[in-house]
Formats: sequence, structure tokens, C-alpha cells
Amino acid sequence: MAVIENSKLTVVGAGSVGSSAAYAALIRGSARHVALYDIATAKVEAEVLDLAHGTQFTGSSDIIGGSDISVVEGSHVVVITAGAKQNPGQSRIELAGVNAGILKTMLPQLLEVAPDAVYVIVTNPCDVLTVLAQEETGLPPERIFASGTVLDTSRLRWKLGERAGVSTSSVHAYIVGEHGDTEFPLWSRATIGTVPILDWETPGHPPMSQDELDSIAIDVRDAAYKVIQGKGATNYAIGLSSARIVEAILGDEHAVMPVSTVLRDFHGLDGVALSVPSIVSAAGAVPIRETSFSGDELELLHRSAAALREVADSLR
Ligand code: LAC
Repeated sequence: MAVIENSKLTVVGAGSVGSSAAYAALIRGSARHVALYDIATAKVEAEVLDLAHGTQFTGSSDIIGGSDISVVEGSHVVVITAGAKQNPGQSRIELAGVNAGILKTMLPQLLEVAPDAVYVIVTNPCDVLTVLAQEETGLPPERIFASGTVLDTSRLRWKLGERAGVSTSSVHAYIVGEHGDTEFPLWSRATIGTVPILDWETPGHPPMSQDELDSIAIDVRDAAYKVIQGKGATNYAIGLSSARIVEAILGDEHAVMPVSTVLRDFHGLDGVALSVPSIVSAAGAVPIRETSFSGDELELLHRSAAALREVADSLR
């Protein structure tokens, strides 16, 4: 599938998110070569072994890894998952200080061995870390971006698909803004097939109301809290989301995805990273300027940006 020949993905961080991203990439065949890098030698070596032991049953992808930075060499895409994770009841933003420090140390080392890679930041709070990382590395914004609300959008489409009785892939709706507490859906543009969401009729059910949609949006926003409460972390869905983003890059797909890039002159926003529908290709991610917002949505987007800007400013 991959357009880049002999494509190499490195996942940085062998915790539950990183290992799941590597697992998803292997199973989906997202890259020809998958590497897992972490400074915790015993942990990363064990995860790599466990993954390698299953490669009889995956496609042609292979897996290597370890705690030597040379593992990252030659990567076309680097997915960063390393850092402290959310504890039950903790917000993503509370991780900003410690994870910004980790990225600051790590990025120069990664760039030295993989200077031409596209960097995808999954570590939270991914929007804040992306703007800081872009400033520190000086990489063009398209080459260092965050997974953002790709996962939240998948959560939304799953819920709407269940409610409407249609396949997730036939739900056209996006969560935008922060990957976190100020995110929101672009309801004004949400459709099932071509039918505006509020016009959709599910046999045996009343039509959806704006109140019901708002409550779905709250469930989606708070989904990670619920999963973390129950099992201590989220890993499978973020792993799949990461693998899917990697495929769009390595396959030069020009796929539309709500990833988080540092915005330049985007509907009045500058120098803040948040998710909006963007084109993801081998060149990286470019926000789609023609995306239109209702008045309320634009206000929510600016509110999300203001919240993220405040956190980033406190760390600069
Ligand atoms: C989540 C984590 C990845 O939303 O932030 O599951």
C-alpha cells in the first residue's frame, strides 16, 4: 500500500500507546519497517520481542527496536508517544509541564538521526506540545503535527453510526479544536451520506434533536476519562488512529483528517496548534483553508485556541 518504498515508521515510547501503535501498524501493514524506541531497555526489548513473535501472522512488515537512538535512523515517519500518561481524573493539560520537558530533551536527538522524517506527536497534551515542538525545532508546521482529534472524530462517528443505524464510514462529521476539554463537533457540516444530521430518520426512533447531539458531543469529549477510569489508560483506538495517519503520509494519500498543526492565518488564528480538517500526504499536514464554520463554531474554535495559547504561554 505504501507509496514510499521500504517505508520506515518509528514509534517513540514503548508504553501502552506506543506498543499499540506499533501493533496496529504491523497488523495493518502501515509501513514496511516498524521500529519501537524507548530509553527503558528491558521494556522496549520485551515489547519488540512480543510483537516480532507474531509476525508469522501479519503481512510483510517487520519490527525492530531498542533503547539505542540508532533504531530511529532512516525513518520516514516518527510517531511520538513517550511521556507521562493521564491518571484517573487528571486532564491532558495537567501533563503539559512534564511532557514538554521530555520532548525538549528528545527532539534534538531524534532530528539528528531522522532529519527528514514527518513527526506526529501523540503525547498529551498533543496540541500544546506541537506548538512548542514546532517552535523549538524550526521544522515547517506541515512536518510536525499532532494526531489531534482524529481519535475523537472516530469516537463521534462510531456513536452517530450506532444511533443512525449506518456504517461508521458513512458518517461525515468532525471534532475540531483541542484534543481535550474544549473540543467540539462541526455540527453545521455533519451529514450521513448527503443528509444533514438533523434531517436523518432512523426507523423506529425519533429524529435526533440538537439536545441529543450535544449530549453525544459531551460523551465523546469525556470518552478518554471513562476509559482511563476503568482500565488505567486508552491504547487501542489511539494506536489505530496513529497507524491510520502514518498510512496517509507514507501512501501520499492526500487524505482529509482532523490533525493538529500550528495554524497560520486560519480564520483569524495564528501561532496556535489545534485540529481542523487537513490534507495529510507525504509532505505532512496542511489545514484546509476553505473549511467553513458557523458563527457559533468559529467562536468555539477561538475559545479552544485561547485555552491552548494560555497553556503554551505558561511553558515558553
Ligand atoms: C485519548 C488519549 C489518547 O483520547 O488522549 O484516548
